[in-house]
Amino acid sequence: MMRVAMAIALALGAPGAGAQAEDFGGLPKGEGRVETYAYCITCHSTMIIRQQRLARQVWDEVLDWMVDEKGMAPMPSEVRAKVLDYLTEQFVPDVPR
Ligand code: HEC
Repeated sequence: MMRVAMAIALALGAPGAGAQAEDFGGLPKGEGRVETYAYCITCHSTMIIRQQRLARQVWDEVLDWMVDEKGMAPMPSEVRAKVLDYLTEQFVPDVPR
């Protein structure tokens, strides 16, 4: 029972006490993780990102959408490219949840 509760908590991205900052909100390891975390965490948790599985083109649109509609600070183009690569590598439809 306990294990199930833990698994659900993990699946939902419930942060362990104080663990949020060190584990980058549960974002998987990879080039661009730091930048993604730094830019995206200012408004919402990483869960909203981690639960998505989107094609590169859609991630591209999401990044514009965050800036145009949600008031995200535009990223310098090299950072944006890095973040887009990261998102595409980690959260495309063929990567299992
Ligand atoms: C300035 C604030 C802000 C920043 C910074 C921001 N977002 Fe968002 N984001 C929002 C808001 C507001 C929503 C809408 C939440 C809602 O009402 O569903 C949202 C929703 C989303 C969604 C969910 C879309 C859906 O279909 O429900 C994704 C994915 C997302 N953001 C990705 C990102 C990524 C990736 C970054 C970093 C590159 C980022 N956001 C940075 C404000 C922001």
